[in-house]
Amino acid sequence: MKSPNRRFPLALLAAALGGCGGGGSSGESPTTSTVPVSLGSAIPALTATQSADFQAGLVAFRTDEDAGDGLGPVFNGTSCVQCHAAGAVGGAGLDLVLTRVSRIGAYEKGAYSDLPSVGGAVIQRRSLQEFDPKFPVAPEVIPTGTQFVSHRITTPLFGAGLIEAISADTILARTKTAQPDGIKGVANMIVNAETGKTEVGRFGWKSQLASLRVFAADAYLNEMGITTSIFPVENLPQGKPIPAGADPVAEPEDNAVEEFVNFMRFLAPPARVQPTPIGAERGEEIFRNMRCTSCHVPEMKTGTNSVTALSQQAVRLYSDLLLHRMGSGLNDGVQQEMAKGDQWRTAPLWGLSKRRFFLHDGRANSPMEAVLQHGGEASAARERFMKLNAQDRKDLKAFFDSL
Ligand code: HEC
Ligand code: HEC
Repeated sequence: MKSPNRRFPLALLAAALGGCGGGGSSGESPTTSTVPVSLGSAIPALTATQSADFQAGLVAFRTDEDAGDGLGPVFNGTSCVQCHAAGAVGGAGLDLVLTRVSRIGAYEKGAYSDLPSVGGAVIQRRSLQEFDPKFPVAPEVIPTGTQFVSHRITTPLFGAGLIEAISADTILARTKTAQPDGIKGVANMIVNAETGKTEVGRFGWKSQLASLRVFAADAYLNEMGITTSIFPVENLPQGKPIPAGADPVAEPEDNAVEEFVNFMRFLAPPARVQPTPIGAERGEEIFRNMRCTSCHVPEMKTGTNSVTALSQQAVRLYSDLLLHRMGSGLNDGVQQEMAKGDQWRTAPLWGLSKRRFFLHDGRANSPMEAVLQHGGEASAARERFMKLNAQDRKDLKAFFDSL
């Protein structure tokens, strides 16, 4: 078994294996657009119906499910908020990490494989045995023969509706224009599991999913073991059939997916930190001068949207949502749709100050550490970063602290 993530902090993994953080505070009701919106609230200027949908979605997102709701037989969390909790409901992970496995060869005739015959790409570390020791299905372990093990920290959902509302053309435009330093982003093109249409991937560490709806259904299945009409087939624990009676509930649970989507779509983006930390403005200038913005695009705009609050809005995400080759140090060997092992979505930097771990596997304990790990297309930018003097670094850190 090969794990390319040698620098992975063991404390984080131990916390993940030990269980889960939960909680997070609930959002306040929407405020007017002149006042900074508190983290975890709805975007301002929603209609009354949209606000009500957001509130119902928030409840669903926080609700623990049990076997009676279809949870399991294996799972990683009992609610969405169990992983998405840092700063407020919907945030990044507090301590849980996911593990993806795959290999080339041996299974599925020598091709790249997500190992469906031994339990699939995502390891489910928990089972209903937690609640009943006699329950006949054990938590999953990394199967023998695994070649690539990739740990993933949880991405935050603040502003996810705005990201979804950016038009495909806006994202694709940047694949056509050359950036300095030989940088060229590519879009991860995804077949939507529900509609069969090819779409531009924009969510997840490898931009591996295109819509909040499909991501919610994917998370419901892979993290909680709950099927929907989008993904109607239960994950087989370690690839073995589920014993009779071990998953007794008639599914699919499509209503919940609708509710999760309403919560995520209307969840406000993270507001910039007030008052602005001293040096942050100069820090942003340094960020621009190092050409970090070739990938971390400060602002995109949403297209025309039937939801007025999401229509023609500035999205200050600091990402192009495209895949970039990041060098061998960040290569996890895992392929997701068109993304290869060394290709990652430019991580959006908004909300950085609300997080504790950085890069896809959480190996960096600060944004500054994360920059040191940049390679591949980002090598020239990293070199400029290495040459910064103490004051420049201080101001760059102030910029990160302002996000
Ligand atoms: C066991 C932890 C866990 C649980 C439970 C969980 N998630 Fe996640 N979530 C993750 C991780 C890890 C990622 C990043 C996955 C990746 O890209 O490899 C993620 C990413 C996402 C994203 C993509 C956001 C972005 O912009 O990258 C969405 C949307 C999402 N989750 C929705 C949900 C919903 C809805 C639920 C509840 C049904 C849920 N998640 C439950 C861990 C979890
Ligand atoms: C070639 C595109 C590219 C350039 C140029 C680039 N980055 Fe990144 N950045 C990425 C990608 C892709 C990731 C995610 C990598 C991963 O998780 O493995 C990332 C991640 C980060 C993170 C961690 C964010 C998180 O969510 O964990 C920080 C901080 C960051 N970059 C800052 C910078 C700074 C500062 C510069 C300029 C010195 C820079 N980046 C230049 C593509 C780029």
